[in-house]
Parts: sequence; structure tokens; C-alpha cells
Amino acid sequence: MHENVFSDAVVCRPLRSSPMRCERVGVVGTGIMGAGIAEVMATAGYEVIVRSRHETTAETTVMAIDKNLSRLVTKGRCTEDDKAATLERVRTTTSLRDLADCDLVIEAAPEDLELKRELFGDLGNLCRPDAVLATNTSTLSIIELAVAAFHPERVVGMHFFNPAPVMPLVEIGRPLTASDETVQLALEVVARCGKQGVVVRDSTGFIVNALLFGYLGGAVSMLERGVASKEDIDTAMVGGCNFPMGPFALYDLIGIDVCVAVFDALFDEYRDPTFACPPMLRRMVAAGHLGRKAGRGFYVY
Ligand SMILES: NC(=O)c1ccc[n+]([C@@H]2O[C@H](COP(=O)([O-])OP(=O)(O)OC[C@H]3O[C@@H](n4cnc5c(N)ncnc54)[C@H](O)[C@@H]3O)[C@@H](O)[C@H]2O)c1
Repeated sequence: MHENVFSDAVVCRPLRSSPMRCERVGVVGTGIMGAGIAEVMATAGYEVIVRSRHETTAETTVMAIDKNLSRLVTKGRCTEDDKAATLERVRTTTSLRDLADCDLVIEAAPEDLELKRELFGDLGNLCRPDAVLATNTSTLSIIELAVAAFHPERVVGMHFFNPAPVMPLVEIGRPLTASDETVQLALEVVARCGKQGVVVRDSTGFIVNALLFGYLGGAVSMLERGVASKEDIDTAMVGGCNFPMGPFALYDLIGIDVCVAVFDALFDEYRDPTFACPPMLRRMVAAGHLGRKAGRGFYVY
């Protein structure tokens, strides 16, 4: 039996080396997160195989990584040789079967439970039984994916933040079924990528979003009560808390539609009024005011 000792959120460093080896990493999904995670893994020295459903998006992913690395070369933070070696470690495929020999597969497909369940079923079937399968989900229940994968002890959450190559934190979401070795391997990979790993129980929002969205909801309530303007609330949180941006600038950066989805997932799980989505946000989504990506959210861009 696997020991499953939880604390609510434990900052963890690998205490002992995982008996599992990890050299080859598969990435499923080539959206903003999949491409970023592939770059992080290749930069850390892993052999990476990126699975995209279409050849064109696979090529776009490699081009995006190339462009990011070129920017680092220009800034003097990476040499041309390092860039070439990193790109050489990235292969692409349109077939999930090509991930069969990976030691770790990180799934970064859209946030849709049925879609992810199907993917974990396929990965559980075709990957080696000792391969670790990780999901980058922000809000879905990891245990649902673990049981779909036939080897639930090998499934774990690895929640990278956007943009993955820049953000230092990865939340390791631990479902009830995960073995210590699986969590250990995830922590070791995160550490080799030069990032900080924190272990958190499989719970919606993990640490960061569960705390952040209470704060973001509070900011809208404050605005609606007329306590201050959105500009002044943003200025206050930057100047008073040393946050890089205020809540309304952050809403616009994340995307109002994404924020509504996160509020709904948190409320669905906890039934806590703190996470009730402010109605104003739904109206903004209906109006197409989705934030920076739409040119308009709380602010106009
Ligand atoms: N965007 C963020 O800021 C962010 C941050 C942390 C975690 N996440 C999580 O990462 C995951 C991916 O998010 P994203 O923002 O990169 O999404 P995205 O929409 O940018 O990319 C999703 C990718 O999956 C592909 N895809 C679609 N259907 C698929 C299928 N059936 N099988 C495999 N791939 C399929 C899409 O073509 C696309 O390349 C989600 O679970 C999301 O919650 C997102």
C-alpha cells in the first residue's frame, strides 16, 4: 500500500531520490501551456516529444520555442549553441502512440473533463505501466483522470503557470491514489527545470487560484460598493502590497472568460459564497469584453 499522508499544502523539496528515472518527456497539447512546458523541459535537458493533432500546429510550436530562445540569445541569457541543442531535443508527432516510451507525459489539452478523461485512458493503455502521467489542469479533479488511466498511482497534477518558461512555481496536485514515488518524480523534474514545487492536495484551485480568486472577487465587490475607482484599487494594491499589478489589470491579463470559469469551478467544489462569480463578469463576457486579448476588459487596450 502507498502511504498517503496529506497536509493541506506542504512546501516540499525532494527528500530522497526517486527510484524512477526520467529522461524522455511527452507533452500533449500545443496551446500556450503545452508549448511553454515543452520549452521548459527541453531547456532542462530532457528529450521532449510533443504531440499535436495537426502537423501545422506542431511546426508552429517549434517555431514559437525557436523564437523564445532567440529572444534569450539576444538578451545574452542563452548561447546560440545552447539554443540549437535545446531545439534538437524537441521532436513532434501527430500520433499519441509515439509517446509510448516516455518516462513522463504532461497533458496540456483544453480544460474539458471528458476530453482529458479520454486522453488519460489512451495514455494509460499505451504508455509503460511505470510511466508517470501528469495533468496541467487548473481546476479539474485529478482523481477523475487518475482512475481513467488504469494506473492511478502514477497520475499526478503538474500545474505550471503562464508563461511556463518564466513563472517559477509548479503546483504538484496530489490525488488520493498517487504513490510517493510519483510525487517525488514530479518534484525532481520541477527542481531540474529550476522551478519551485509545492505539493497540494487534489482540490480545485490548488493553493494559488483558491487564494487569488477570493481576492479578485473581493476587488469587484469593493468596486461595486463604490469604495474606490478601479484605477485607485489597482494603484493601492501595487503601491501598498508591492504586487506587480492590481486586481483589475490582472483580470484583464488572465481573461474575463477564464476568470468566470475558475470562479464557477471553485464555487462548484466549495459552495463558498467567496467564490460566487460576480455577475458583472458574466455581463462583460456577454459583451465580448474579455480583457487584453479582446482589446477591452476593465481597461481599453
Ligand atoms: N492558459 C493558462 O494561463 C493556463 C495556466 C495554467 C494551466 N492551464 C491549463 O493548461 C491546459 C491547457 O491550457 P491552454 O491555455 O494551453 O489551452 P489552449 O486552448 O491554448 O491549448 C490547448 C491545446 O490542446 C489542443 N487540443 C484540442 N483538443 C485536443 C484533444 N482532443 N486532444 C489533444 N489536444 C487537443 C488544442 O489544439 C491546443 O493546442 C488546461 O488544462 C488549462 O486549464 C492554463
